[in-house]
Amino acid sequence: MFISFEGIEGSGKSTQIDLLESHLKKLGHKVAKLREPGTTLMGEKIRDIFLQDTVEKVDPITEALLLYASRKHLDQNFLREKISQDYIVIADRYSDATFAYQCFGKGLSKDFIDFIHNSSNLLTPDLTFYMDITAEMSRERISNREMDRMESESIEFFDKVRKGYLEIVSENPERVISLDATKSIDELKDEITLKTIEKLNASLG
Ligand code: TMP
Repeated sequence: MFISFEGIEGSGKSTQIDLLESHLKKLGHKVAKLREPGTTLMGEKIRDIFLQDTVEKVDPITEALLLYASRKHLDQNFLREKISQDYIVIADRYSDATFAYQCFGKGLSKDFIDFIHNSSNLLTPDLTFYMDITAEMSRERISNREMDRMESESIEFFDKVRKGYLEIVSENPERVISLDATKSIDELKDEITLKTIEKLNASLG
């Protein structure tokens, strides 16, 4: 099974991913985590390039091509292998992020991403948790971090990204579960665990 977590900066994905990982491991499942961009040797190099601050202008097409280079490589060198070995794979972001950040946030054409995505023969997550917070709350939560190239974007940008995610939620009701990420860590953990177990049981028939 392939599960992804999505949300803007500071939505609490990493905490919930770690909690879900340890819960599933306690139940005896094999769990593998990934992050995007990144995870593989090549992917982590692409991540550094992608997130590094630069005085050069970075077009959303350039971003998308970097992201899909990392994603295709990850699919070929990590994801499919883990799925075929019966791991539950938990992704800290996946392709929904490109629609939210590059298309909705930066105005890149959805047709362009659809074309690259559909030509890349990638897996789709079985289940996606979208952790919803406002752009203002995101800024408040990350304001004490040293910000990378993407985190330094404006509140208006993150508001557009959030709207993009909300559109993805409404277009994919079977796959994407939207969570109110202002709830407590424990409440969120319980909701995520319940939905994951339901999905696992359904997949076992
Ligand atoms: P993070 O995983 O530490 O949050 O950093 C990844 C950053 O990359 C984050 O700002 C979101 C951004 N990103 C995109 O813009 N598009 C994508 O498709 C992905 C996977 C990430």
